[in-house]
Amino acid sequence: MTKNKNNQTIWGTRIKNNHSMLFQKVGNSIDIDKRLYKEDIAGSIAHVEMLFKQKIISFKIKNKIIYGLKKIEKEISKKKFEFSIKYEDIHMNIEKRLFQIIGEEAGYIHTARSRNDQVITDFKIWIKSATQDIISIIDRVIKSSLKLAEKNINTIMPGFTHLKNAQAVSFAHYLMAYIEMFERDKKRFSFNLNNLNENPLGSVALTGTSFNIDRNYTSKKLGFKTPTNNSIDTISDRDFVLDFLFSISVCAMHISRIAEELIIWNSDGFNLISLSDKVVTGSSIMPQKKNPDLLEYLRGKSGTSYGNLFSMLTILKGLPLSYFKDLQDDKEIVFRSNDTLINCLKIFDEILKNLNPNKNRMLELANSGYITATDLADYLVQNHSMPFRKAYKKTATIVNLAEKKRKRLDELDLAELKTIEPKLTKDVLKVFDLKNSVNSKKSYGGTSFDNIKKMIMKYKKQI
Ligand code: ARG
Repeated sequence: MTKNKNNQTIWGTRIKNNHSMLFQKVGNSIDIDKRLYKEDIAGSIAHVEMLFKQKIISFKIKNKIIYGLKKIEKEISKKKFEFSIKYEDIHMNIEKRLFQIIGEEAGYIHTARSRNDQVITDFKIWIKSATQDIISIIDRVIKSSLKLAEKNINTIMPGFTHLKNAQAVSFAHYLMAYIEMFERDKKRFSFNLNNLNENPLGSVALTGTSFNIDRNYTSKKLGFKTPTNNSIDTISDRDFVLDFLFSISVCAMHISRIAEELIIWNSDGFNLISLSDKVVTGSSIMPQKKNPDLLEYLRGKSGTSYGNLFSMLTILKGLPLSYFKDLQDDKEIVFRSNDTLINCLKIFDEILKNLNPNKNRMLELANSGYITATDLADYLVQNHSMPFRKAYKKTATIVNLAEKKRKRLDELDLAELKTIEPKLTKDVLKVFDLKNSVNSKKSYGGTSFDNIKKMIMKYKKQI
């Protein structure tokens, strides 16, 4: 970078003294918002093209500015740009450099524009593309879940409520449940695009401008659908930031719930799944250990996402309209949440590829806890025309009997069952078979093998 001849700040004529080092250190945001350089340059190019179209600046000046901006973009991408905390943020760093490259005519770039609308424009463009990136990583995770589900349609395990054995399910049904959660996340992120598609540029400091600008033109150039409606609201609005942080928090919460479930299933007590060595960690003292640290990382990270969401909500609480320096922290918060979620999704994808169900153990656990009791109650209703409550009571009596005899339900013989319900025939014994149990749940969305196969097909086509 050539030496800066004019190293005064933009407001140097009015504010004569340099800021203290401490003020410069805390007041600048360049280390954070330099990440917006591409969006900032795209916004500036669209802005000067509009200024030229509206005859506010000349053809020559427009071209000069665009030449300078493109040069700056190259310098930054090649890491040849010298960022300075003295110029606070990415917008002023770029503007200052433009002066060095093209001279005084750089001064036209900020006509009918303020950093206030500039920064929101950059930020909305950035969040829009981050949203698309997140959606495509979620798709990767869905694909991996589908792959594992496809291999495990017939893998039977206990389904839990209260972490107690409830009813038998296919392992694939759990995996497909995760897919539903991620599908909702995708929808949630996509909904946000409505607000993100409104263009802030042209709201200027807070009032709009006396220049005859064309906000529809910049909207189109920058990929927005329409300009925002009220300049004061636009400058103050960070709802789109909250939406993004909330969507991240919900997705992180989903990952956290799944991680916790897998941690439990991986515990020695449950032992329902195994993790390959790629995703476990050893202990410094206990030589035998293989700990699910990565899953714990995933479980924990939802906490920082919520923290970021709450930081932003708190910054906005009671903040009058329109711009205040308080808002500057929004970028750091968003970048942190975004990067963490992307890591979590990538890690979870890796875990899915390194996870194996312990099928025998799943079946063994599914055979305990009188897991087919509800099937027996349903059988009594369907075959002996009883009201469900009566069937429920009879079944509970049969469970009590099994408990007393220290037998599983499928170990009771017909004679024993008949002591409770004399009308029973040997046909009843089939309800204790776990495969029959799983396969009988044919209601839409239920765990029957056929339902799962169809659902897998549906999602495979979609992806
Ligand atoms: N770096 C600033 C921010 O992100 C840009 C807006 C500055 N506007 C101002 N009036 N100081 O918030």
